[in-house]
Amino acid sequence: MSNINLDTDPERNPENPEAKHAPELAKPDDVSHLSFAEIAAQGHGATKLDPDAPAVLSVDDLKMYFPVKSSGVVRRTIGHVQAVDGISFEVPQGGSLGLVGESGCGKSTTGRLITRLYEPTGGAMYFGEDRTDLAKLSNRAMKPLRRDVQMIFQDPYTSLNPRHTVGAIVGAPLSVHNVVPKNKIKDRVKELLEVVGLNPEHYNRYPNEFSGGQRQRIGIARALTLNPKLLVADEPVSALDVSIQAQVINLLQELQAEMGIAFLFIAHDLAIVRHFCPEVAVMYLGKIVEIADRETIYGSAHHPYTQALLSAVPDVKQAAVGGRRERIRLEGDVPSPINPPSGCRFRTRCHLAQDICAKVEPPLLQIGPRHKVACHFAGELGDAPRTPVTSGLLGVDGQGSPDPSVTPEELATGPGYEKRWFDVKSRQMVSA
Ligand SMILES: Nc1ncnc2c1ncn2[C@@H]1O[C@H](COP(=O)(O)OP(=O)(O)O)[C@@H](O)[C@H]1O
Ligand code: SF4
Ligand SMILES: [Mg+2]
Repeated sequence: MSNINLDTDPERNPENPEAKHAPELAKPDDVSHLSFAEIAAQGHGATKLDPDAPAVLSVDDLKMYFPVKSSGVVRRTIGHVQAVDGISFEVPQGGSLGLVGESGCGKSTTGRLITRLYEPTGGAMYFGEDRTDLAKLSNRAMKPLRRDVQMIFQDPYTSLNPRHTVGAIVGAPLSVHNVVPKNKIKDRVKELLEVVGLNPEHYNRYPNEFSGGQRQRIGIARALTLNPKLLVADEPVSALDVSIQAQVINLLQELQAEMGIAFLFIAHDLAIVRHFCPEVAVMYLGKIVEIADRETIYGSAHHPYTQALLSAVPDVKQAAVGGRRERIRLEGDVPSPINPPSGCRFRTRCHLAQDICAKVEPPLLQIGPRHKVACHFAGELGDAPRTPVTSGLLGVDGQGSPDPSVTPEELATGPGYEKRWFDVKSRQMVSA
């Protein structure tokens, strides 16, 4: 193995002789006064939460089970990877929802389902004003909608074809969808390169002539080509150096504000989505375990998993336990989604787990105006209730065994929020 640093970003690796050939990064503030203004003019800035914005995407009980095959000549299905198992959420028009969780929780699969790179096992994905269900469309019927839903991939090194020029990569969606006359494609691509802060004259260069940050900008330009309504950004900065991450995030934020694009922003930690997303969903082993607006997630998370993820984020206010800020260590790895733990999937790593957690799956329960959590012992950090908050709702006793004297409640399980919710302190339904 060679130990030569091949990084061609001159900012990160001035020693690299190739660095001087790397195309220059235009300054991020070049974005605001470009001829892309006609698109910008149609959009609206929406980095804040607009509780009245209609959903551009409404995902209801979405599932993706990948078959596991036996080895041998006759390959039988012997199980399923439950990568995504019944998740529901909404992305508001022009808004952005963060989707976070450790590696293997099903975030990328969710992104790939929404962009229909995979066909879901079950559930619905209602898109746009006429609420077309993307899950039910054939590949052919999906084609016009592919323009509206685009994806930015995690790895800018593998997501761009090394044999195609930047011009061909960014221009390809224009030819495929036949939206711009052939002789106009080049101008349009140059304009897009400029929008994402790249030198339009580098149209004929190949991906390997660019640094990681620049390649990610190429990926962003490609995703913007067809003026999408929704962008799925799958860990768009995880592969980049920290100093470059901020630039790319700023670029995405500007594009969102100017073009009114909605984002599903996938990340493995809560630090990055904090600035970008006014609403955050936390995923664990194929399920959403908590979803809320930014203030609630960062100030008053009620799920032990969210609390553990937050304890790794610097500067987040944590409940003082015995006068000190608790660092919750997450032991071990995410278990296999082929045979996930019974009841609550987080129980094998949860310091609060009790008998009920193995027996009964906690529902994703709305506990505030814009807050849902899936935990029998939902509570502020350091203030978890001693008895399950859910037993009265689910018709079980404190250990999770059926309790015939308790009638289960009908709980709303769909995307979005209801006007009534369950207050975990008083253990009663309350309304706005
Ligand atoms: N095409 C596939 N076939 C089988 N299993 C898959 C496939 N894609 C993902 N998985 C499995 O699904 C689970 C979720 O993966 P993924 O969505 O990539 O998680 P994340 O993006 O949160 O890291 C993992 O256990 C992964 O191994
Ligand atoms: S339901 Fe039980 S195991 Fe699951 S997060 Fe809550 S306390 Fe932990
Ligand atoms: Mg992933």
